Amino acid sequence: MSLDKNLQQKIDATVALLKTIAAEYQPATFANSFGAEDMVLTDLIAKHAPAIGIFSLDTGRLPEETYKLMQEVRQRYGNIAVTAYFPQAGAVEEYINSHGPNAFYESVDLRKRCCGIRKVEPLKRALAGKKSWITGLRREQAPTRKDLSSSEWDADNGLQKCNPLIDWTNSDVWHYIRHFDVPYNALHDKHYPSIGCAPCTRAIAVGEDIRAGRWWWENPESKECGLHAKKA
Ligand code: ADX
Ligand code: SF4
Repeated sequence: MSLDKNLQQKIDATVALLKTIAAEYQPATFANSFGAEDMVLTDLIAKHAPAIGIFSLDTGRLPEETYKLMQEVRQRYGNIAVTAYFPQAGAVEEYINSHGPNAFYESVDLRKRCCGIRKVEPLKRALAGKKSWITGLRREQAPTRKDLSSSEWDADNGLQKCNPLIDWTNSDVWHYIRHFDVPYNALHDKHYPSIGCAPCTRAIAVGEDIRAGRWWWENPESKECGLHAKKA
């Protein structure tokens, strides 16, 4: 299977942006959730811009399939390392002891507090001292993501935020993965287009929105974990 011209152009533009970041926005770090988009970026960074750092927020509640993929990435890409950021043990203990381990199903407030402890606080630590961060956000993923650009000032976190796959379609992502034989999360083959923590992600049915399986018990407007607070 050959790559079509349109996708090749997107790859070239993405590589060019990654190289610019590696040269001009250091220290730079890529936020890797090990979802399909992030595996494309992992592959591109390993091949073309390995000077960019990579981190992952290990919430402690990720699906087993995601941990398997993390392990696989270590073997496949010897020239890059993914640094894990774990939540503060004391904060997790306090939450569980006060509300229970699965209290996120009880209210939006308790769900956001769990995301705050397990994702947002560790994100702040991961971004501290960095000049730029890179995400796998795509415009097509959600109405809230349609105004994003490939590189913009992130006022909340005080550094440049780069979204190199902003113009990529879902089909572009999967063509890339198949063409370059990039490892990916086994849950994608089980109708999980978007993957977060295990208790807060489910498979979607045919015709459902690609993010319908995330925090599915909440209204669409509250589905925000705080990682991309203002604009996404
Ligand atoms: S979320 O806000 O709903 O969780 P989504 O799963 O679509 O976001 O991921 C969007 C981008 O956020 C990813 O491409 C990645 O850059 C970053 N991200 C999400 N979850 C994590 C994670 N656990 N660790 C590192 N980065 C993450
Ligand atoms: Fe907690 Fe669910 Fe948020 Fe993960 S996605 S941090 S388990 S509320």
